[in-house]
Amino acid sequence: MKKIDQETVRQILDTANIVEVVSDFVSLKRRGANYIGLCPFHNERTPSFSVSPARGICKCFSCGKGGSPVNFLMELEQMSFQEALRYLANKYHIEIKEREVSDEERRQENERESMWAVNDFALQHFESNLTAHPDGKAIGLAYFRERGINDAMIARFHLGYALDRSNALYEAAKAKGFDEKFLVDTGLCIRNDRGQVYDRFKGRVIYPVHSISGKVVAFGGRTLRSDKQMAKYVNSPESAIYHKSSQLYGLYQAKRAIVERGKCILVEGYMDVISMHQSGVENVVASSGTSLTEGQIRLIHRFAENVTVIYDSDAAGIKASLRGIDMLLAEGLNVKVLLLPEGDDPDSFAQHHTSSQVEDYLSANETDFIRFKTKILMDEAADDPIRRADVINDILRSISLIPDLVKRQVYIAECSRMLGINEESLGLQLSRIASKKAEDDDKRAQRRAAEESLESQPAAPVDDSRDSGFLKGYERNVLRYVVKYALCEFCEEEDGTGNLMPMTVLDYVRAEMKRDGLTFAHPVHSRIMEIVEETAATWPDIYPGILARAEEHRRRFLDKAYADMREQELNVSAINAREAQIKSEADALYRQEIDTAALDYVSRTLCSAPDDDVRRLSTELSIERYQLSKVHTKHTKVESEREALIRLVPRAISELKGAVLDVMIHRLQTRLRALPPGSTDLTVLQEIMRLTALRQEFAHFLGERTITPRKI
Ligand code: CTP
Ligand code: MN
Repeated sequence: MKKIDQETVRQILDTANIVEVVSDFVSLKRRGANYIGLCPFHNERTPSFSVSPARGICKCFSCGKGGSPVNFLMELEQMSFQEALRYLANKYHIEIKEREVSDEERRQENERESMWAVNDFALQHFESNLTAHPDGKAIGLAYFRERGINDAMIARFHLGYALDRSNALYEAAKAKGFDEKFLVDTGLCIRNDRGQVYDRFKGRVIYPVHSISGKVVAFGGRTLRSDKQMAKYVNSPESAIYHKSSQLYGLYQAKRAIVERGKCILVEGYMDVISMHQSGVENVVASSGTSLTEGQIRLIHRFAENVTVIYDSDAAGIKASLRGIDMLLAEGLNVKVLLLPEGDDPDSFAQHHTSSQVEDYLSANETDFIRFKTKILMDEAADDPIRRADVINDILRSISLIPDLVKRQVYIAECSRMLGINEESLGLQLSRIASKKAEDDDKRAQRRAAEESLESQPAAPVDDSRDSGFLKGYERNVLRYVVKYALCEFCEEEDGTGNLMPMTVLDYVRAEMKRDGLTFAHPVHSRIMEIVEETAATWPDIYPGILARAEEHRRRFLDKAYADMREQELNVSAINAREAQIKSEADALYRQEIDTAALDYVSRTLCSAPDDDVRRLSTELSIERYQLSKVHTKHTKVESEREALIRLVPRAISELKGAVLDVMIHRLQTRLRALPPGSTDLTVLQEIMRLTALRQEFAHFLGERTITPRKI
C-alpha cells in the first residue's frame, strides 16, 4: 500500500481553490469578497452557505458545516482523507507521487488490513450460510422472515447466519489460507487454554457492524433459542479495528439520510435500525444497548445538529436514560424525544405501520427534550412540594449544560411557563447551579489531587489529564490566534540593542509559553501546535515566491495606473500628487497580499490535516466568527480582529497562565488540607503565597501594555 507523497499533498492543498471545488456541487453567487449558495449539508431555501476564497474555506452559517476543500469533500461525499486528495489531484491534473510507507507503518497497516480482510471473509461466509446453506435457510432466514425483514434489508445490512458447529468458520477460513492469528485478533475465533481455536458465533443470526467508511469491524450474533441461560447476544470484542465506544450501529447505512435531513434518530438495537430502514426512515442508528459515550455523541455531531431519541414507553427505561440525554445537550445538539405507544419498540412499531404512518407519527409526536423531561418529572412529583423542588433543580441542571446562551434563555422562558415560576427566579437558580457545578468540579479535582504528593508531581505544571478539562477553554483561546494568525507580524520586540524586531503571533506565543515552561495539556492542542511549528518552518522556503508574486502584482498595478494617468492629460503638480497616491496604494496592496498569504499558509495546512481531531478543531477555530469582547464594545470604532491582536493575544496568554496558576494553587491547598489537624507545611505555605502573588500580577495584566504594537 502506498501513500501520497508529502510534497504532492502540499501541492494539492496549495492548488485546490475552494470556490472551484465547492462550485462542482453548489451553485455560487458572488457577494462582496465572498460567495454564497444553498448549503449542500442541509435543506434550505435561503442561502446561508458562504465561501471565502481569501481564507480558502467554506462554512454554513446555519448548520455550521464546512471547512477546507479537503474537509468539504470528506464531509459531503464521505470520502477518506486520501480519497479527497486523489479527487483534487485528478481535478487539477496534478501528478501524484507516492511514497513507500515505513516498515512499522506497514506492519500496523498490514495487521489492520489483514483483520479487515478476515472480517470480510467472515461476512461473506455468514451471508452465504443464510441464503445458500440448508441450515441457514431453514433456521436463520426463516427467523428473519418471521420478523418481517425483507431481502433488500438482508442485503443492505449484510445479515448472516453462523452455523451451529464449533468451528465452521474456522475451517472455512483456514481452507482459504487465512492466518489463525487474525481470526483470533478479530475475535471471530477464540483460543482456549489448551491452545484450541473455535468459533465465537455458533447457531446465531449475525449482524455485521460497519465503520463509517463501510469496513466490517465487528459482528453481533443473536441466539435463536429462548433458553434464558444463553446470552441473547454475543458480540465481537474490542480489537485494533473495533472500538465499541466510537461506533454506532447502522451509521454507514444511515449517514447520507442523516446529513440530508440534518437529523439523527437514536434507537437501541439492531432490529430497531433495520425495521425503521425498511419502513423508509433511514436516518437511524443504534447505540447497541449500552449507554451513549462521548465518542458516539461526537460522531453524531459530525453529521447533524439534531437528534431524536426514541423510547419504548416503559417509564423505568426513560428515567434511566435521561442522563445520557444530558450528554447530548452538553455537546450542543438539539435534542428531541419520542415516546412510542405502550408496548411498542421501534422495531415492532415500524413493522406494524406503513411508511407514511411512521413518518407522521414521528413528526407529530417528537417533543423537545427539556419540555419532555419537565412534563414527565412534574407529573410524577404531582403535588408534593419537596419533590417538585428537586425536579426543578434537576431540570435546571440539564439546561445549565446547554452551551448556547440564547438557547438557555429560551428554555428558561419556556420552563417558567410550564412550571408557573417566574423567569427571574429560575434564572437566578440556574446561575447558582452553574457556579455550584464549577465548584464541585474543582473539589473533585482537588480530592483527586490530594491522593498525590507534591514530590511525585511532574515538573511541567499542567500535563495532568484531570486538569486538562479545566484548562481546555483557555488553551483553545490561545490556540485560535495561533491557528488563524501564526505567521502574522503583530508586535515588535526590542532585541537588547535598541533595535525593534517584528514578532509573529507564533513567535510571541512560543516565547511566552517557553518562559514559564508551559505546554498544552490537551493532546489535540499540542498536536496542532506541533503542526503549526512544522508548517511555519517551511514558510521561509515559499516566502521568496510569495514576495516575487506580490512584486509582480505591484508592477502590473503600477503599469496600469501609469497608463491610465497618461491618458488623462494632467498638469505637473496633479501628476506628482497622483503618482504619490498610486505608489502608496501599490504599497498597501503589496503588504496586504503578503499578509494574507502568511495568514492562510498555516490555517490551510491545519484545516486539511489527515488527523480527524486536528482538522476538525482547526476548522472550527478558524471559521469561528469574531465575537466582540467587553473591551471592544467601549470603542465606537469597529476594529478588525487582525488589528485587535495586539490586545487579544497577550490577554489570551495571560488568562491561560492565570488558569494554570489556579490549578497549581488548588493542588497545594489540597495538600495542606490533607495534613493532620493542627500541623502545617511551611514550604507548601510559602509556595502558595508565592503563586498567589504571581496570580495577582496576572490579574492586573490587562491594565498594562508591555509590548509595542506593530503598524499593519
Ligand atoms: N445487546 C447486546 N448484548 C446483550 C443484549 C443487548 O449487545 N446481551 C445490544 C444489542 O445491540 C441489541 C440492543 O442491545 O440490539 C438492544 O437489546 P434488546 O432490546 O435486548 O434486543 P433487541 O435488539 O430488541 O433484539 P430482539 O428484538 O431481536 O429481541
Ligand atoms: Mn427488539
